[in-house]
Amino acid sequence: MPIGMTLTKFLLEEQRKYPGSSGNFTGLFSDLVVAAKVISREVNRAGLIDILGATGSKNIHGEEVQKLDEFANNAVIKTMEHGGHLAAMASEEMDDIITIHSHYPKGRYLLLFDPLDGSSNIDVNVCVGTIFSILKCPPDGDATEADFLKPGVEQAAAGYILYGSSTMFVYTTGHGVHGFTLDPGVGEFILSHEDITVPERGGIYSINEANNKHWYPGTSLYIEKLKSADKPCTARYIGSLVADFHRNLLKGGVFLYPSDRKSKNGKLRLLYEANPLSFIAEQAGGRASTGDGRVLDVVPTELHQRTPLIIGSRLDVEEAEGFWKRQEAKPPLDLHP
Ligand code: AHG
Ligand code: MN
Ligand code: MN
Repeated sequence: MPIGMTLTKFLLEEQRKYPGSSGNFTGLFSDLVVAAKVISREVNRAGLIDILGATGSKNIHGEEVQKLDEFANNAVIKTMEHGGHLAAMASEEMDDIITIHSHYPKGRYLLLFDPLDGSSNIDVNVCVGTIFSILKCPPDGDATEADFLKPGVEQAAAGYILYGSSTMFVYTTGHGVHGFTLDPGVGEFILSHEDITVPERGGIYSINEANNKHWYPGTSLYIEKLKSADKPCTARYIGSLVADFHRNLLKGGVFLYPSDRKSKNGKLRLLYEANPLSFIAEQAGGRASTGDGRVLDVVPTELHQRTPLIIGSRLDVEEAEGFWKRQEAKPPLDLHP
C-alpha cells in the first residue's frame, strides 16, 4: 500500500482506472471530508463543551434529538449546500427533503444521510458515526421527494465516517470498499484499508437480545443455533449500527435488527442506514437481507421508511435467511412483491 495516499489522491486514481464509471466524486467527497472533520472535532471534545445531552425536541421518528445530532445535521447541510455537487439532500433528522437555495449552484447528485448514528452512545463516549448514500438526480427540473425513492441498487456511492478510537472514512463507488484513517497531525484521511473484504463466514453475532420476547421463531432458532454451534461464536452489540457494522465488516460476523412482533418493519431506516451499508456489504463480498430478500432491491415508498436488516458475512446472512423463511406466523413484509 502506498504511504501517505490521501482520499483525494485515491479518488483521482480510481477515476483514471474506471473512466466510464458512474461519476466524479472528488469534489463531492472533499466537501464531505470537511463535514467529517468538523463533526469529528466536536465529537472528540464533547465532554469539554456544552454539546452533550438532548435538545428537548423529537425528530420524525419520535426519537429525542441530541445536541450532537443537530450539530452534525447542520454541519453536513452547511458544508454540502454550496459545493455545486448536489441537487438536494435528505436527512434522517429532517421531515422533508432539503432543497439547494437558488443562489447556490446545483449539481447532479442527491445526498441522503444519517448525521449521527448511535446517538444514545454520545454521552458515554462510545463510537458514533455518520452514514451517507449518493444517488444520481434526474437532469430536468428541481429535485422532488420522488427522486429519492430509488432502490439501493441505484446508489452511485455510499459510505460512513466512524468517530471511534480513530476517525475513519469508509466508502464504495461500486469498485470495492476502501477505508481511510484521519491522521490528526496532518488533518488528512490516509488510505489504511484498501479493498476491504468481509470473511464469508464470521464468528460474531450482533443483535439486541433484550428484544427476544418479541422475536419470531426464526430469529430465536437462528440465535440458538449460533450459540450451540461447534464453531465458537461470540456476541457483540454496541448499539451504534455503524460501529457494529464496521467491526463485523473487518472481522466477519452478522448484524441483525429483524422484523419482530413489536417492530414489524424493524427499526433501522432504509434510505439512511440500511441501503448505504448494504451497498458496502455487497461490495465487500457480504450480503444484506430483509429476511425475505435483498435489501438493495426494495423499492422505497416513503423517505423515512424502516426495514428489517440482516447484514454481514455472506454465509451467515444466507443461513439466517434460511431460518427466517422457515419461521411460522411471520407477517408478510410486502417489501419484495
Ligand atoms: P440513530 O442514533 O441514528 O437514531 O440510530 C440508532 C440505531 C442504530 O445505530 C442502532 O443499531 C440501533 O438504533 C440500536 O437500537 P436498539 O437500542 O433498539 O438496540
Ligand atoms: Mn442511525
Ligand atoms: Mn441518527
